[in-house]
Amino acid sequence: IPTLQHKDLLTLRDYTSNEILELIEFAAELKKPENKHLPLLQGKVLGMIFEKSSTRTRVSFEAGMLQLGGHAMYLSTRDIQMGRGETIADTARVLSGYLDGIMIRTFAQSTVSELAENSSIPVINGLTDDYHPCQTLADLLTIHETFGSFKHKKMAYIGDGNNVAHSLMIGAAKMGMHFTLACPAGYEPDQEILAYAQAEGAKTGADITVTHDPAAATAGAHVIYTDVWASMGQEAEQEARLKAFEGFQVNESLAAHADPDYIFMHCLPAHREEEVSTAILEGKHSVVFQEAENRLHAQKALLVALMGK
Ligand code: CP
Ligand code: NVA
Repeated sequence: IPTLQHKDLLTLRDYTSNEILELIEFAAELKKPENKHLPLLQGKVLGMIFEKSSTRTRVSFEAGMLQLGGHAMYLSTRDIQMGRGETIADTARVLSGYLDGIMIRTFAQSTVSELAENSSIPVINGLTDDYHPCQTLADLLTIHETFGSFKHKKMAYIGDGNNVAHSLMIGAAKMGMHFTLACPAGYEPDQEILAYAQAEGAKTGADITVTHDPAAATAGAHVIYTDVWASMGQEAEQEARLKAFEGFQVNESLAAHADPDYIFMHCLPAHREEEVSTAILEGKHSVVFQEAENRLHAQKALLVALMGK
């Protein structure tokens, strides 16, 4: 069981390379069929606050808690008093009296930090507008399963400089993987997060760069990654984004620039024929369903590390 110096997972910025590697190795252990039902969280209860939709996050956290001998509770902000204006701090203090951990999916990263500051129990970020750390843990597990290591591997992220991209560039930097993000002008990642990832990368030998040229980004890549062009909360921008991202689709002609043994990754849900062609999503290089399954294993490792103490 990995020993973490943290109460929470708010962003992977707080985690060292070694802590991330330990989590991934523990996740690989928990993934073995004989370890599926280890009762490491017997009787523990996780509350899961959702202010946005979810399939993978909701189901993998709930199934994971049950497999570990605990229980998970789905709390939609449409139902709980937080959605009617009860403060985050009060919600945190009340839930700390009932639960052993909280997972939250919301808009502002500050909501997650405020919840954590006012909770005596672990808080896990299940996606904000800025970060998606649980997705990155599963992605790193998938890359590790495929290549056996991270060093000197190259990831090309084609698309929006969003929450998924932010967490991935931090994860890549900490694991020593080169990372290039190709996006249209105006859709770059946050400058401060990029600078942070570049500084982390300088310590591990990973180059973290941004370009507007998808073919250049993909040249020699071992991993091609993409995500939707309009994230949750950006529905009104859908049309404008469809236009802006023209030429940034991951398809056969773009993938031709990658390493012959590249893998294609996507956090899902996917929009076929927008950010990715059906041929690539369904093709032999695609690992998207292995990646989705790995959400379960990576999060079980995280839950045990944070709540098993
Ligand atoms: N990848 C991901 O977080 O999926 P959901 O939105 O379905 O949870
Ligand atoms: N960037 C996407 C990821 C969904 C899992 C969103 O925030 O909607």
